[in-house]
Formats: sequence, C-alpha cells, structure tokens
Amino acid sequence: MKKAFLSGINGQDGSYLAELLLEKGYEVHGMIRKSSVFNTQRIEHLINYDYKKNDGAKRFFIHYGDLIDGASLTRLLRRIAPDEVYNLGAQSHVKVSFDIPLYTGDVVALGTVRILDAIMDIGSKIKFYQASSSEIFGEQSFSYQNEQTPLAPASPYACAKAFSYWMTIIYRKSYNLFACNGILFNHESPRRHETFVTRKITRAIARILKGEQDILYLGNLDAKRDWGYAKEYVYAIWLALQQDQPDDYVIATGENYSVRDFLDESFSLVGLDWKKYVQIDPRLYRPNEVSSLCGDAKKAREKLNWKPKCSFRQLVRLMLESDLNLEGLNLKDFEN
Ligand code: NAP
Ligand code: GDD
Repeated sequence: MKKAFLSGINGQDGSYLAELLLEKGYEVHGMIRKSSVFNTQRIEHLINYDYKKNDGAKRFFIHYGDLIDGASLTRLLRRIAPDEVYNLGAQSHVKVSFDIPLYTGDVVALGTVRILDAIMDIGSKIKFYQASSSEIFGEQSFSYQNEQTPLAPASPYACAKAFSYWMTIIYRKSYNLFACNGILFNHESPRRHETFVTRKITRAIARILKGEQDILYLGNLDAKRDWGYAKEYVYAIWLALQQDQPDDYVIATGENYSVRDFLDESFSLVGLDWKKYVQIDPRLYRPNEVSSLCGDAKKAREKLNWKPKCSFRQLVRLMLESDLNLEGLNLKDFEN
C-alpha cells in the first residue's frame, strides 16, 4: 500500500487530493498547522469516516507541523516514510502577499526547500510534487502560457512560487530526485476560500438572495483568468507522480474569462443584475495586477492523457448551487 504525505491538506486542493488518494487505496498523512481557530473544516468528513486497510488499521492521519518549521517536517517524513509527498501548503493569497511578503516567502519559497531537504535527508526514492502556479508567468505578451514561457512573477507570492519552481527543478537535476512541478492555472470549487473572487461572488449572491447582504465590494473587474474545476485538477496532480520520469506540467482549460464575465454568468443564473449590487473598492486592487492568464495544457493532454471536462458555465453553476444550498436555498427556484 502506497503512503502519501500532504502539506496543506485542509486547503481546497488538499481536501480533494486526500479524497482521491483514499479512493485509490493510499494511506494518507496530512499536515495541518496549529491555529487558534478550528482549521480542519474541509477534511472533517475524512477524519470522521473510518478509512481502513485490509488488516483493519486506519488509513487517514493528521499531524501537526508547519512549513516554517524544518525540524517538524524532517521528523514527520522520517516517521511516516511516505512514497509520495505533495507540497500544497502555502500562504496562497496574491494580494495578501503584498502585505506579508517575508512570511509569504518563508512559507512558499523556503518551505519548499525545507521539504526538499527533508526528503534528501531521508532517502531520495520519495516522489515529490510542488504546487506551482500560473502566477509565475506574470504579465505576458503571449496569449497562452505553457512550459516554455519565460517567468515574470509580479507579486511576492508569485516570486516565492517561482523560487520553489526552480528549486524543484534544481533538486531534480542535481540529486536525481523524482520532483515535479504542476503549474496550475486558477481552479475553483465549492471548497474555495471566500477571499478568492469566484467564491466571494457566489457566496455573496446566496447572501443577497437570503436578504443578508446588499453590496458586494470588488476590485478589478477586467482581470482575466483561466478558471477550471479543482476536483479535476487534483487528478492531474496525482497523474504527474505516476509517470516513469519526473517533469513539469501546465494544467489549464485554455479559455479565460474576466471577473465581469463571472459576474454576468453567476448573477444571471438567479435572474439578478449584478450592477445593482457590485461596488468597486479601490483597496481591493492589487499594487501590481496580472491582467490576463490563459494556459496551454497540450503537454498534460499528450503525456498525462489529462483534459478538463467542466466548462466555465458548469463551474459557475456548481459553485452557486452549493452556496445557495448552504443558505437553505435551491437554484432551481430562481432559474427562469
Ligand atoms: P488553500 O486553500 O489556500 O490551501 C493552502 C493550505 O496551506 C491551507 O490548508 C493552509 O492551512 C496551509 N498552510 C498555510 N500556511 C502554512 C504553513 N506555514 N505551513 C503549513 N501549511 C500551511 O490553497 P489551494 O487553493 O488548495 O492551493 C493549493 C496549493 O496550490 C497552494 O500552494 C497554492 O498556492 C497552489 N495553487 C493554487 C491554485 C488555485 O487556483 N487554487 C493555482 C495554482 C497554485 P490553513 O487551513 O491552516 O490556513
Ligand atoms: N480576491 C479577490 N477579491 N480578487 C478580486 C477581487 C476581490 O474582491 N476583485 C477583483 N479581483 C480580481 C483580482 O485582482 C485578480 O485579478 C482576479 O480577481 C483573481 O483573484 P483571486 O481569486 O484572488 O485569484 P488569483 O488569480 O489572484 O490567485 C489564485 O490563482 C493563482 C493561480 O493563477 C490563487 O489561488 C493563487 O494561489 C494561485 O496561484
């Protein structure tokens, strides 16, 4: 039975990937950091469900640790001895990274090296996945970004991700480590944190319909992103580590839409005009915005045999449906 170790297990991707790995029969070990508030909401169903091995022993484990605490990482990896390590943990908010650049660099950039070094200490047979990001491309003149596109990070978060992207490649080349980068474009789901724009919008619509919110404050409506469905993207993450050779892959839908498009699509599903609710708050603008990102995932299609199925419209719908349900509402009751 394979063992996997995940940092960031309580994040959007960590929770979906843990489900996938458990379905595939893995023993799953997730790391959570100590927080003053409860931070296991996305994996409660996994903790409470009794995943068992054939011998009746447990298959799902949670450990305290932190990407800024290298000793905890080495200790955990030594004790667990995983076959695969997925580094998903991060201070993942681009705008927040301008407010806390040092912390972001510590977690996102140095945290990756701490895991890579722990793997080197323990044994280089472990396969390693690094959650890289389309943000490393920054502002580009190319309409589509792929594995050959030069990096031009535009935020502390992106810069830290670019550092860990290169360190993953450097450790692969220098120490023959099975280390892969997944360069994932934006991916969303009902488990997306509410501070990201898609979920902020779908959550706000549900609250507006419930009479709990009148105004939705947003920043730049013109930014375009390539939005896919997180559940499909974690399958690509897993596939990257099942190949014979380590490599780096762009994971994307190949279509992009603006924040304005997302507003049009989501509000119109419930028969509302977003212009009556949305107000621009200049504080939500980024000091340095990336105006447009759109991925070319040809390599993942050809080498991993991966392609996304969920369309932009389906994604908006499934997120909205879920947020309405959370408010005790039903999307069908609002559709024309
Ligand atoms: P997410 O929901 O923000 O989850 C990140 C997780 O990292 C959270 O569970 C968080 O813990 C944990 N974390 C934060 N600081 C940590 C630290 N110091 N030590 C250990 N864990 C820490 O992010 P996601 O959307 O699932 O994304 C997963 C990874 O892919 C991230 O690295 C992100 O940067 C990257 N990525 C995401 C996207 C996307 O569109 N979703 C695209 C490209 C790349 P708490 O729960 O305690 O806060
Ligand atoms: N968060 C947020 N809140 N974004 C807003 C808002 C707002 O009120 N108004 C407009 N936006 C715009 C942002 O300026 C950005 O251009 C776009 O909406 C998307 O913002 P986010 O949803 O915060 O995502 P992101 O693209 O910055 O970053 C996400 O995707 C990256 C991959 O490209 C995160 O998941 C990163 O961790 C990930 O690497």
